[in-house]
Amino acid sequence: MTNAAFPALRLRRPRRHAWSRALYAETVLTPADLIWPLFISNNDDVEPIASLPGVSRWPVAQIAKRAAEAKAAGIPCLALFPNTPRDRRTEDAAEAFNPDNLMCRAIRAIKDKVPDIGLLTDVALDPYTSHGHDGIIDESGHVLNDITSELLVRQALVQAEAGSDIVAPSDMMDGRVGAIRAALEGAGQVDVQIMAYAAKYASAFYGPFRDAVDTRGLLKGDKKGYQMSPSNAEEALREVALDLAEGADSVMVKPGLPYLDIVRLVKERFEVPVFAYQVSGEYAMIEHAIAAGAADRDAMVLETLMSFKRAGASGVLTYHALHAARLMGA
Ligand code: PBG
Repeated sequence: MTNAAFPALRLRRPRRHAWSRALYAETVLTPADLIWPLFISNNDDVEPIASLPGVSRWPVAQIAKRAAEAKAAGIPCLALFPNTPRDRRTEDAAEAFNPDNLMCRAIRAIKDKVPDIGLLTDVALDPYTSHGHDGIIDESGHVLNDITSELLVRQALVQAEAGSDIVAPSDMMDGRVGAIRAALEGAGQVDVQIMAYAAKYASAFYGPFRDAVDTRGLLKGDKKGYQMSPSNAEEALREVALDLAEGADSVMVKPGLPYLDIVRLVKERFEVPVFAYQVSGEYAMIEHAIAAGAADRDAMVLETLMSFKRAGASGVLTYHALHAARLMGA
């Protein structure tokens, strides 16, 4: 008999004990959900990045060690970003498809020592252009789509040749996924995956990343002519549909926390692997909150990462990956 003076259903009941909370968990987060972005330096020393507290650029000679640490912590994949020396940055971004560039040397250094960790490599011209844009520009500063796309194809091919497992176009040119897929097939690289930065927004959260790859000072104007407006969700679905039709194996939403609604929408609409990128500005925001005493690091890191899984992401690119993986392993 129900007594009207008491709740008919007590949802607190399963929350009482840790074992019960574990049993009722709807979402799980494991180290296998994480992709760890690493910055590569052309110099011999480890270079801390001031606006990304706790994150450094690593010399090629030390990068395999980081990969081994990631592997030991259960992280399945790394994302690599080179800090191209300034004297190698040109209008035509030729260093992007130099088979001996920093990116390719880092890929080979890791595959030589830790062959069974996945490597995701960014395909975009911004670390190679003298003006910091993701593509080739005309006199007015407009990024030219089709010429850029041809160069992205060449960039993806040298990365695949060097041993990249997943090429990840982050440039937002139209048609580049199809062009890259066709070129990979043509080159016999049929097993190289494409993770498309499908819904990438023109965001205020990329600042520390641009310090890390030294483009902040070079960038003229903004990227609103190719990256998406934060106002748009429907357009994200169109971007995803196109990238999938062109041959992407998985799609990414970026940034992460301010766009969890997009992660959920894409997952529900397409039922494909969706990844989220918790970008540099999000990482910095969390670290500064912790430094100011506003929050506990471990709890905050795990809660934000769990939110991506709950929203429907298959995995998360995060600068907190190693710390989070070790926490989960402990
Ligand atoms: C460049 C690229 C950016 C990021 C990943 N690839 C920056 C940008 O578009 O300006 C940002 C990642 C981060 O902020 O952590 N194509």
